[in-house]
Amino acid sequence: MNWSVRIRQFHRYVATAFIATVVTYLIAMIWGPPSTIITYAPLVPLFVLMPTGLYMLMLPYAAAWRTKHRS
Ligand code: HEM
Repeated sequence: MNWSVRIRQFHRYVATAFIATVVTYLIAMIWGPPSTIITYAPLVPLFVLMPTGLYMLMLPYAAAWRTKHRS
């Protein structure tokens, strides 16, 4: 399995974790403003999603660049 497939899969799993933290936050809101940990928990998976997402965003451009510069 190549790197881009692994990163796409990782991005997918971390996205699931991100959604879980957001849902937890929304449910916790029922009992008033949630604790600081619950409030900021979504930032942890989000900061993992950002580099892996940007990597996938660049993939087609990297492939085009490689094709153009093939010797
Ligand atoms: C933080 C910045 C993020 C960037 C730059 C980003 C970027 C991307 C890119 C470029 C793709 C590939 C699209 C394609 O060509 O098919 C992708 C896929 C995906 N993203 Fe993100 N994303 C980000 C955050 C998120 C978040 C917050 C979620 C979830 C709520 C998420 C969920 C997904 C899922 C489920 C896929 C499909 C993965 C698969 O193919 O199985 N992403 N993202």
